[in-house]
Amino acid sequence: MSQQQWTAVDDYFTGALIGADPVLAAAQEAADKAGLPQIAVSPPQGKLLQLLARTVGARRILEVGTLAGYSAIWMARALPDDGTLISLEIDPVHADVARANLRDAGLAGIAEVRLGRAADTLRELAEAGTDPFDLVFIDADKPGNPVYFGWALELTRPGSLIVVDNVVRGGAVADLASTDPAVIGVHRLHEAIAAEPRVSATSVQTVGSKGYDGFTLIRVNR
Ligand code: SAH
Ligand code: DHB
Ligand code: MG
Repeated sequence: MSQQQWTAVDDYFTGALIGADPVLAAAQEAADKAGLPQIAVSPPQGKLLQLLARTVGARRILEVGTLAGYSAIWMARALPDDGTLISLEIDPVHADVARANLRDAGLAGIAEVRLGRAADTLRELAEAGTDPFDLVFIDADKPGNPVYFGWALELTRPGSLIVVDNVVRGGAVADLASTDPAVIGVHRLHEAIAAEPRVSATSVQTVGSKGYDGFTLIRVNR
């Protein structure tokens, strides 16, 4: 099995079930033009996030880690006209590209990018007593995962879903002695989840155009 094959299969699924999407293509093009890293979710993964948002009946979505707004567009499209997506981004260039992409996608009225360290913005959201989010997508710096999970729990309600990206990283997560801060972040995340009686969770491995990686899916129960 090779990366080439995983990409070919993703291309097949994308062609069969998603098709051409000029808005998303333009968003990706703008990201590439601005020199942003090519680490957005793949089209099948973006659609998975959209289906999950629709399945939980999301009216409010929180994203940690915006990049160019590619995953934000996928998720915001699941929202009703009066829905809200707030995405947190630390890099002002990324935030600018994302705001333009969300505007060009016709989503400026419901999707907003907040610039700053996610840990700070999450604290501000909690202190402001913001309404609970129905879906949280955690996809920023990986060492921050345990902190972001803690805030996500504060900012959700029973029935909400929390999704964490990049929890496998080529299999490095199985190395319990890893000193890679990203892997340690994933280990601490799993320990925090396991110690948290309010949630049930699983992690699933994936292959595709983004290589060998995976998601953690966490349901808030109470
Ligand atoms: N969710 C995006 C990809 C996000 S890439 C998509 O799939 O389309 C990760 C992003 O997190 C980058 O833009 C990076 O600048 C941002 N980031 C990294 N550390 C952060 C932090 N401490 N607070 C907020 N954003 C952060
Ligand atoms: C990286 C980050 C991501 O969020 C991702 O989906 C893939 C790769 C990275 O930092 O390498
Ligand atoms: Mg990611």
